[in-house]
Amino acid sequence: MNALAARRRHPAAITVLLLLGLILTGAAYSLLAPKQAQAALASEDQVAAGKSLFLANCASCHGLNAQGTLSGPSLIGVGAASVDFQVSTGRMPAAGTGVQVARGVAKFDEEATAAMAAYVASLGQGPAIPEEAVTSGQGADLARGGEIFRVNCAMCHNFAGAGGALTWGKYAPALKDVTGRQIYEAMVTGPANMPKFTDTNISPEDKNNVIGFLKAIETQPQQGGYHLGNLGPSSEGLFAWVFALGLLIGAAVWLGSKAA
Ligand code: HEC
Ligand code: HEC
Repeated sequence: MNALAARRRHPAAITVLLLLGLILTGAAYSLLAPKQAQAALASEDQVAAGKSLFLANCASCHGLNAQGTLSGPSLIGVGAASVDFQVSTGRMPAAGTGVQVARGVAKFDEEATAAMAAYVASLGQGPAIPEEAVTSGQGADLARGGEIFRVNCAMCHNFAGAGGALTWGKYAPALKDVTGRQIYEAMVTGPANMPKFTDTNISPEDKNNVIGFLKAIETQPQQGGYHLGNLGPSSEGLFAWVFALGLLIGAAVWLGSKAA
């Protein structure tokens, strides 16, 4: 104790203390820093590869620095999830401008998509590509997922995910053959007219419940016979009118022709 007290006033003491403080802060940061920041640092090559792919395929519409042009919005802060969604669903690179870019065949493989996602993520904070644990729909509470879907999504996508028309020629697509990861990414990034559902609106666990529900209704057999596109009472009513009434009219015409 005495030895320490004696050295306390040594001219170098302040430097030693400062150094110790810096080392401690650095060590604590590297231990506690968010994983995202570490991942971003670890993949500089990936970011560089993504940038050159971006310049060749996307910059014509989104700008040389992804700042946006008249032909495409700014991508700063949209996050890796948005790029992964848009490119893996084949929406991007868009062929031209229209009311809404349709889903298509993906033009890039997983590695190229990940590189472009990493590049865009390096430009500004945004939603990351979600973990498998919340996108597989495994162990989902299907009843709860269905309830959340009917409250938040069914007004656009239909109660059975069959899709529907929106205003100005836009539409909410059918949710068939969409991967769990794309469903999650659509919720956090809100493509086109779709609202964003942040973790406070719908928790990651509930997003997984929605995914489980959508996967379940996609694979379950139609117990009630042919589903008529799952368009609800209007299509069922129309079916009854056209076929049942048609049959009755046919019978009336046949009887009439017999009597004559
Ligand atoms: C022909 C022009 C064009 C090209 C080429 C193009 N985009 Fe787009 N991009 C658009 C338009 C227009 C939108 C807005 C679409 C919408 O809102 O429905 C868009 C939207 C996006 C979004 C969604 C932004 C958001 O707000 O979440 C991402 C991500 C994206 N593009 C990435 C890319 C990538 C990556 C490429 C290259 C592989 C690319 N785009 C190529 C025109 C283009
Ligand atoms: C206001 C209407 C609206 C609501 C509410 C809405 N969506 Fe969407 N959704 C859209 C539109 C429009 C698109 C098409 C975006 C595009 O083409 O760029 C879309 C696209 C999607 C896609 C992509 C499908 C594909 O073919 O790639 C998924 C998945 C999706 N929505 C899921 C959901 C879920 C889950 C919810 C509820 C949590 C929801 N949506 C709520 C309008 C909506």
